[in-house]
Amino acid sequence: MKAQDAGQLKSLAYPTFFEHVALEGDRFARRLEGFSSGKVELDRSEVINFWTRIMGEHADFIAHMLDPKERALVETAMKTGKAWRKLDDGSKKKVEGTLEGFIAFKKTAQAGVESGKIDSIIHPILADHVLREALKFSDELKRVS
Ligand SMILES: [Fe+2]
Repeated sequence: MKAQDAGQLKSLAYPTFFEHVALEGDRFARRLEGFSSGKVELDRSEVINFWTRIMGEHADFIAHMLDPKERALVETAMKTGKAWRKLDDGSKKKVEGTLEGFIAFKKTAQAGVESGKIDSIIHPILADHVLREALKFSDELKRVS
């Protein structure tokens, strides 16, 4: 990111993408450290704060990687990103509702990307990643009730 900020790295991955991947890696490392000291429980506000940010960024990535002519999907993704940014301290019920819709959106997007019915530069591995993380969020959310 520093090299990109300094104009030394030219890449098709934008700074938010690098930051996103680093955040996910840091959280995974923290979870592993917790496991090794016997701490397996999840913290409700950490789960919601972390994943709402990640979901919002996924929506933004999707919006910015769809072909511009996919206007309806771009608009949906942009609106979804905005909705996630408002939910970082939201109630579990609101988060669950937004997540349910987002999982359905991601499933549709993944199938469309895979079949070529949706025009984009979204790699199928990225489509799979964003769906798996939404399912992971759903699973963690159920465990912090
Ligand atoms: Fe992610």
